[in-house]
Amino acid sequence: MKRIFSGIQPTGNLHLGNYLGAIRNWVGMQQDFDFNCIFCIVDLHAITVPQDPAELAANTREVTAAYIASGIDPKRCIIFNQSMVSAHAELAWVLNCHAPMGWLNRMTQFKEKAGKRRDAAAVGLFAYPVLMAADILLYRASDVPVGEDQKQHLELSRDIAGAFNRHYNCEAFVLPEPRIFGAATRVMSLRDGTAKMSKSDPSAWSRINLSDDADAIAQKIRRAKTDPEALPSEPAGLEGRPEAENLVGIHAALAGVDEAAVCREFGGRGFADFKAALSELAVEVLSPVTAEMRRLTADPGYIDGVLADGAARAGAIASVTMSEIRKVVGFLTPRQGA
Ligand code: AMP
Ligand code: TRP
Repeated sequence: MKRIFSGIQPTGNLHLGNYLGAIRNWVGMQQDFDFNCIFCIVDLHAITVPQDPAELAANTREVTAAYIASGIDPKRCIIFNQSMVSAHAELAWVLNCHAPMGWLNRMTQFKEKAGKRRDAAAVGLFAYPVLMAADILLYRASDVPVGEDQKQHLELSRDIAGAFNRHYNCEAFVLPEPRIFGAATRVMSLRDGTAKMSKSDPSAWSRINLSDDADAIAQKIRRAKTDPEALPSEPAGLEGRPEAENLVGIHAALAGVDEAAVCREFGGRGFADFKAALSELAVEVLSPVTAEMRRLTADPGYIDGVLADGAARAGAIASVTMSEIRKVVGFLTPRQGA
């Protein structure tokens, strides 16, 4: 059986890159996977770096609202926050005992996030990819849609699943396939076409947040970095022009066309014209999503209800896997033990 699992950390500043590179693709996958989809808000992952408790809670609701506002159907898919299903932490522990330090030492995201002060990083930040493996393996997900940056973590999940199955000579875990979305959905910073648009960029001008209103979107596009040349009439002319390439890529992704079509339409015209058209398009595509997000976040009771319902449904699947894993590992269950 095909099943999708994916997740986003509730760490604030949800942006256009998250929308075009992740959430929007998931919306399109719902039907393909017969609504056998699980979309998680990974709050256990979020606390691998310090978080303010009130903000963590607000950001968890914000990501939930973004999923629903973008078109993920909470009745037909499972939407929940990770910490509500304790099996994630439980399976992560078991997998921690099967993941060699050497494998984790190779993870580039840990090196980036820990920086020079590796000794000061939390053990949880080091074990982050094992928790991610637990998320996926718990539901025996067959397909995991993620961005290019998560590919290494996904390969590790497959390695851990394989090592566990071999160690216990069982087939408890399904090896998940990565579904990496193409380069067209790699959205770059509006201030620097060589850096990814990111939640953690200190400049608010670098990203379009899903909480921005029409004026903010237009202002940010107007101030986006460009070069003095006119737009090229074909994509080859974007080479060596990262900012131009990014804006053309964003336009193409928002319009659902390829970069060649955008170049055909705007080739020879200056950035002032192009930015005006881009901001109109961005507002047209994003404002229904952002408006719906605002409406949903104003109703935390509804959001919390979706999460509670999702957690109950996720928990039911997870507990079946966990009882099998407990047996495989040799843990006595309360009933057997009593
Ligand atoms: P993060 O914001 O790093 O928690 O990522 C959440 C999801 O959004 C992941 O699937 C990422 O691959 C995707 N994502 C994050 N930033 C971008 C970006 N600038 N362009 C495209 N996808 C992105
Ligand atoms: N690490 C992922 C990210 O930063 C988020 C994540 C956690 C995830 N668990 C997952 C993604 C399981 C896919 C499947 O984007």
